[in-house]
Amino acid sequence: QTILLSDYTPFGWQLEKVELTFILAPRATRVKSRIAFVPNPGAPAQDFFLHGEELTLISATIDGTPADTHLTSEGLTAKVPDGAFTWEAEVEIDPANNTALEGLYMSNGMYCTQCEAEGFRKITYYPDRPDVMSVFSVRIEGDLPVMLSNGNPGKKGDGFAEWHDPWPKPAYLFALVAGELVAHSDHFTTRSGKPVDLNLWVRPGDEGKCAFGMEALKKSMTWDEEVYGREYDLDVFNIVAVDDFNMGAMENKGLNIFNSSAVLASPETSTDMNFERIEAIIAHEYFHNWTGNRITCRDWFQLCLKEGLTVFRDAQFTSDMRSAPVKRIQDTIDLRARQFPEDSGPLAHPVRPDHYQEINNFYTATVYEKGAEVIGMLKTLVGDDAYKAALDLYFDRHDGQACTIEDWLKVFEDTTGRDLTQFKRWYTQAGTPRVTVSEAWDDGTYTLTFRQETKPSAATPAPQPQVIPMALGLLNPNGDEVRPTEVLEITQAEQSFVFEDLASKPVPSLLRGFSAPVTLDRESTTEERAFLLAHDTDSFTRWEAGNALARQTLLDMAAKGAAPEPAYLDGIQAVLRDASLDPAYRALMLALPTQSDLAGTLKDKGITPDPDAIWQAVETLRQALAEHLQDLLPRLAAETHVDAPYSPDAEQAGKRALGGAVLRLLTRLDGGKAAAAQYAKADNMTLQLSALGCLISAGKDEAEVQAFYDQWKHDRLVIDKWFGLQIMQATPEASVPTAKALTEHPDFNMKNPNRFRATLGALAGHHAGFHAADGSGYALLADWLIRLDPVNPQTTARMSTAFQTWTRYDAGRQAHARAALERIAATPGLSRDTTEMVQRILA
Ligand code: ARG
Ligand code: ZN
Repeated sequence: QTILLSDYTPFGWQLEKVELTFILAPRATRVKSRIAFVPNPGAPAQDFFLHGEELTLISATIDGTPADTHLTSEGLTAKVPDGAFTWEAEVEIDPANNTALEGLYMSNGMYCTQCEAEGFRKITYYPDRPDVMSVFSVRIEGDLPVMLSNGNPGKKGDGFAEWHDPWPKPAYLFALVAGELVAHSDHFTTRSGKPVDLNLWVRPGDEGKCAFGMEALKKSMTWDEEVYGREYDLDVFNIVAVDDFNMGAMENKGLNIFNSSAVLASPETSTDMNFERIEAIIAHEYFHNWTGNRITCRDWFQLCLKEGLTVFRDAQFTSDMRSAPVKRIQDTIDLRARQFPEDSGPLAHPVRPDHYQEINNFYTATVYEKGAEVIGMLKTLVGDDAYKAALDLYFDRHDGQACTIEDWLKVFEDTTGRDLTQFKRWYTQAGTPRVTVSEAWDDGTYTLTFRQETKPSAATPAPQPQVIPMALGLLNPNGDEVRPTEVLEITQAEQSFVFEDLASKPVPSLLRGFSAPVTLDRESTTEERAFLLAHDTDSFTRWEAGNALARQTLLDMAAKGAAPEPAYLDGIQAVLRDASLDPAYRALMLALPTQSDLAGTLKDKGITPDPDAIWQAVETLRQALAEHLQDLLPRLAAETHVDAPYSPDAEQAGKRALGGAVLRLLTRLDGGKAAAAQYAKADNMTLQLSALGCLISAGKDEAEVQAFYDQWKHDRLVIDKWFGLQIMQATPEASVPTAKALTEHPDFNMKNPNRFRATLGALAGHHAGFHAADGSGYALLADWLIRLDPVNPQTTARMSTAFQTWTRYDAGRQAHARAALERIAATPGLSRDTTEMVQRILA
C-alpha cells in the first residue's frame, strides 16, 4: 500500500490532553490512556480511526460507556459523539518480545522506547501522526529505581513516578525509560537565567564514559543560544544510553535516547572519530528541540524539514568547534560515498519524497545529508544576514506548529523577496545534477559556460534545470588569485558568464566549498590539477584538486593498466611537507576516493567497473605513495607524535589522523614493525586500533587480534570494532570467509543492531569483498538479511541498501546479485520494510 503526499488530510479531532499510565511488566505491560478529543473545525468529516498494532485491547470506553469499536490489523474505528468526548482504553503489550526495537521494548533488562516514525501505535491506540500534537501526562508504575518520561518530573514515590510535558508534541516524540540506571549529572543555566538539570543515564559500569557527552551537551546548549538565539525550555534534560537501538539517537522531548555507541566514550575505548561523531550527534539531537520538536513536521513527507535543517545546524556546530575546512571535506566525502549512489540508483528519491510504503525506509542520506546541502545552498544564495532573519521568522511564525517545506521556503521568500519556485526543485526532483564546464579565452575576456543535466529516473522522469550556486575564484598562472571567491547563480540548462579585463588566461577554481551537491565535469589536464593542488587559495578546492588527480590516476590504472601518475605523487608530497598546513587537512589529502566511488565514476563513463581491478589499482597506488614518500614518512611520524595527555580535541585528533595515515604507508615498507611497536605501547583506542588495522592488513596480526579480544571482551562497543576491523582490513579473498567465521563467533548476536552492522555492514562496505565475482558476498548478506527480517525489519531493510549499486557490475555479478535479491524477496512473510526495499532495488 502506497501513501501519497497528495492524499494529506488533517485529522478530524484535536487532542486537548493525553494521560497515560504504564504498569510495567516484561511480558505484559498494561497501558492505560485517557484522551480528551474535540472536533477539529478545519478537517473534513471522517470516521474516527486510531492507529494500533500488536496491541491486546483490554477495554475501551467513550465518556465512560463501552465503545463500539471495530479492530483491524492497523488500528481501530469507533462510533463517536458529534462534539467533544473522552476516550479511555487499556491495552497489554509485550516489551520483552519486542525485538524490532520499535515501540516499548527491553534492552538488557531496561525498558525503553523508540516511537519515530510510527512506533507509538505499538504502545496504545492513538492518532499516530506528527500533525496531531498534545500535552502529555505520564504515570509509570513498576519496581525499578529510575523511571523517566518526557517533560518535567512530577510526583515520585514507592513504585511510581509521574511526568508532565507542558509542550504539545506529536506521539513520535514520546519516550519512556525504566531500569537500574545511574546518572552522570550536571547543570546548565540558560542565558535568561533558567536553571536546567542535566543527566546522562547509563548502566552501572558505564559511569566513566559520560563526561565527554555531557560537555558536548553543554556546548550545544550554549551554541544554540549564541548562534540561533534558541534556549532550552524545560527544567530537566535527560539523555539515556541504550545498547540495542536501530539508529544513532532520538530527540524525544526532554528525554533523548541514544544508541550507546553514539554517546558513551572514553580515551581507552573510543577513537578520535568516535568522539567527534558523539559530539555531533549530541548536538544534533539537542538542536532538534527547536528544529523538530517546537516546530515539527505536518506529515512524514516533510521529514527533511527537521532532519535536513538539523544536520545543517550540527555541521555548523562541528565547524565552529573544530576545523571548518576539514568538516566540509569530510561531509563532501560522505555525501559522495552515501548519497550520490542513492541518487543515481534504483532507490533515488527527492529530498522531499511524494510517496512511500514504509516511512522508515526514507531515513536516508538524501533526506538527511542532501537535505542539509539544500539548506546550505539557500544560505549561500540569500547571504548570512538574510538567513538569520529568515530563521528568526521561522521560529517566530511557526513555533508550536506542524509544518511543510512550503512553510519553510515562504519564510525565505518573505524575508528576502526572492521567488524560490525554481529553487524548490531541489526538494522535489531526484538525481544529482551533472555540471559540465567549458571555457573560452579571447584577448582579456574569459568566458565560462556551464551545462547542467540530471539523469531521468523513475522518481523524476523529466528533470528541469535547478538553481546551482557556483562558488568560484580565478587564479593567475603564477598562482595569485585574480578574482576572489564569488557565487554565480546558474539557473539555465546552459549558461555563460563573462570575466573581463584579465591580463592572462586564468585557471578557474570551481565549486569552492562544494557550494552545490553536483558532479562537476570539466575536461581538465593533469598540469592544471597539479597547479591547483599546489596553489589554490581555497582549501576545499585545493583538496579537491588532489582528490581529482588521485581519481584520474586510479581510473587509468583500473581501466587501462596505467602506471601511477607522477604529478599526483609529487603534488601530494609537496602538500605533506608543508608543516604550516593543519595535520587533519594533510591526512585528508592522503585519503583516496573510495572504491565504490571509483566504480560509480567508471560506470558514469560507460565502463563496467571491475572491483578486483579497482582494488588492485588502489593497492598499487598506495604502495607507490609509500615508496615515493619514503624519506618523508619518519619525519611526519615524529611531527604527529603527541606528548600531552590524551584529549579528543581537533588539534590532537588531527595529528593522530595524519599519524595513522603515515603508519599505514610505513607498514607497506617495514612489514608492520612500526605498527607492532605502536600497538604495544598504545594507551588510547585511536592508536591501538590504527595499529591493529595495519597489522591485519599486513597479515601480521595473529597475536594482536587475540590479545585485543582478551583485553576488551567485557566491552561491547570495543568488541564491535574488533568484529568490523577484521573484515574491513581483510583482503578481497579473505573478507567473505572472515565475515562468515565472525557470524559464527559466540559473541555474534544478530539481535543487537550494532553487532550485526559491525559484521555484515563491514562486509557490505568492503567493495571488492562484497562484490566478489563468485557471488559469495551477496549470498552471505542475503542469508543474514533473511534471518534478521522476522526479528528486526527496520535494520534488515536498511542493510539491504548494500545491493543498491548491483546493476553497475558485469553480467556474472549481476546474476548473483539478482539471485540473492530474489531469494530475499521470495521469503515467506517478509516484512513490509524489506519488501519495499528489495522491490525498489530490483525494479
Ligand atoms: N530523528 C532521529 C534523528 O535523526 C532518527 C530516528 C529515526 N528512527 C527511525 N526508526 N526511523 O535524530
Ligand atoms: Zn535528526
